[in-house]
Amino acid sequence: MKDNLYKKPLEIAHREALNFLDQLDETPVSRNLSYGELKELWQRELPVEGTPAEEVISDLNKTAVPGLRLNQSGRFYAWVIGGSHPSAVAADWLTGAWDQNAGLYAGSPAAGIAEEIAGSWLKQILHLPEQASFAFVTGCQMANFVCLNVARNFLFKQAGWDFETHGFYGAPAMRVICGEYKHNTITRALRMLGFGSNHVVNIPTDDHGDIRVEALKMEFERDSTTPTMVLLQAGEIHTGAFDDFASIIPVAHAHNAWVHIDGAFGLWANVSQTYAHHMKGAERADSWATDGHKWLNVPYDCGYAFTAHPKEHFQAMTNNAGYLPTDQVARDEFNWNPELSRRARGFATYAVIRELGLKGITDLVERNCRHAKSIVEGIGRLTGAEVLAHPVINQGLIGFVHPEDPERNDDFTLDVIQALNTSGEAFFQASTFKGRKCMRVSVSGWRTTEQDVERAVNAARQAIKTVSDQVKGS
Ligand SMILES: Cc1ncc(COP(=O)(O)O)c(C=O)c1O
Repeated sequence: MKDNLYKKPLEIAHREALNFLDQLDETPVSRNLSYGELKELWQRELPVEGTPAEEVISDLNKTAVPGLRLNQSGRFYAWVIGGSHPSAVAADWLTGAWDQNAGLYAGSPAAGIAEEIAGSWLKQILHLPEQASFAFVTGCQMANFVCLNVARNFLFKQAGWDFETHGFYGAPAMRVICGEYKHNTITRALRMLGFGSNHVVNIPTDDHGDIRVEALKMEFERDSTTPTMVLLQAGEIHTGAFDDFASIIPVAHAHNAWVHIDGAFGLWANVSQTYAHHMKGAERADSWATDGHKWLNVPYDCGYAFTAHPKEHFQAMTNNAGYLPTDQVARDEFNWNPELSRRARGFATYAVIRELGLKGITDLVERNCRHAKSIVEGIGRLTGAEVLAHPVINQGLIGFVHPEDPERNDDFTLDVIQALNTSGEAFFQASTFKGRKCMRVSVSGWRTTEQDVERAVNAARQAIKTVSDQVKGS
């Protein structure tokens, strides 16, 4: 029987997935095989003859594991990547088995309704307006793209220009205002949307990376008439800083600007009474972008776009073809996002929201913020380390201090991060913030515990000692 063909490969996948997940606490969180070594594991001639599926899956597992990043581990602090909750992984397996095309309702009624329900739950969780439109996309990059696409068309329409028909040919000018520390996906979304990168007005930011409100006001005084989008941020990737939404949005709206908030992880601060004050006023924005695969801990890939302008959202994204049966009652997802055929992302989001409930999501966010603070402060207290940015939410920055020559702090910092990662006890990444090399501390995985925090601090202590000894011995 055809169905039996699935049995063995799925059993192997099930066994190996559990092995992988069960061993996360013991496995070194960083693996150091080189590109060449990893490639050798994968390299094969193009297969001409087929191979039984169970053999392929068994080999795939052996080949892939040495090159996997262990962001599922509680000791992974490199980027805001997060892990995946049990129900979300399981829902994702079913999504693969069901193989639904979630582009239109007729392609998968279940997937369409799962997204509809999960989308409305997300708005409640994130404290966004009930009537806001939404789209499930691949990540915050595409969520930013969708929102800015809607913004551009809306602003042109306000200026009497039908962008959907005429595009940029003969269009009036449009201004884009951002903070100096906008995420690179904003820059790329603007490029993809035809704005290029040269004409963006970058407003200076304060030490934490949030926009200086006075500077923004001056920009509006300089030019108060050009149609404008103002791109704000909830959760700067180094410091977790939030722009001052309550002050900025009314100023922008007084000039008929569209305000977008890139909140890939920061938007989730709204679930916690302790951190929600950072989001004050954010509900008045025109659009919001965030991720599921970061702080909600659903598997890759999953992001969400929301706008306060459903009609314009639909108009900017809608897609029509005579051969596709659109639905009169239900939501056809392809009318809201940039894809036609697409993965049924709603199942995993629906599952994890049910698994955690609002209380569990709040607990996850607060736990991660607490752990980020403990790691930053714990390492910051060590001789040879200093805190460069205390976490506002779940991000912070550490710098390491050369024992003899402060001019060499940057190199010393990179060496300590390398030594720390080589230990396999924790995994961090270097970045540059305000001209200085630093170690980013990002905590967004649901598995991180107090013990993991302690291991990270101890590993940092040891790494500083190792590198300091090398410096003194050289
Ligand atoms: C603030 C911010 N915006 C956008 C993105 C892009 O998100 P994604 O990688 O899900 O496309 C990120 C990713 O780190 C981010 O931190």
